[in-house]
Amino acid sequence: MDSHLILKIIHMTFGSLALITFLIRAALLFRVPQNQPGKAGRIVLVALQHLSFTVLIITGMVLLYQNQFVVQPWFYGKIILFVVILSAIIKAFSKRDMSLAQRKAGAFVAAVAFAGLLTLVVLKPDFSGNAASQQIAQSAAVDPQIQPMQQNQLTSTTVRQSATN
Ligand code: HEM
Repeated sequence: MDSHLILKIIHMTFGSLALITFLIRAALLFRVPQNQPGKAGRIVLVALQHLSFTVLIITGMVLLYQNQFVVQPWFYGKIILFVVILSAIIKAFSKRDMSLAQRKAGAFVAAVAFAGLLTLVVLKPDFSGNAASQQIAQSAAVDPQIQPMQQNQLTSTTVRQSATN
């Protein structure tokens, strides 16, 4: 297995761990707000959350480096949503004295941002306005007689697409 694939699997595993930890903490906040986990439980949940976000950032940076920092436009949305998730989670589960309504609002914003990030990662929407060259790429796959100029467009599109998903 090549290092890119291994990193991607680690990245996705810790992405899932970050989501699961967040869902557990959010469920506890909404379902049993007066009965939050004790010190040991809180330490475990916070440690898992810190670990998963740290590994996500490190593996994400290395994946970006391996892709020579070539990204598609939706990737910028992913990073913005990631920052929103981090700041909303800090708001929701901060040690500081904060009202339950504020905490719930933070958890709600984080949940919406998580859903948006996962939607982007799964759908990888094309915001580049490159639909025409993508059509050429698709028709080239079924028609080997494609024009040389169109083949050049196909190559650049294919490189960008495979560089970062
Ligand atoms: C909650 C946060 C995140 C989640 C859930 C997440 C999830 C994922 C998933 C599922 C993929 C695989 C997509 C696919 O190939 O179909 C992926 C790829 C990738 N992620 Fe993330 N990610 C997160 C944060 C980040 C961050 C913070 C960075 C950058 C610092 C990053 C950089 C990348 C890169 C560069 C790839 C492309 C790998 C490739 O196909 O070459 N991710 N991410």
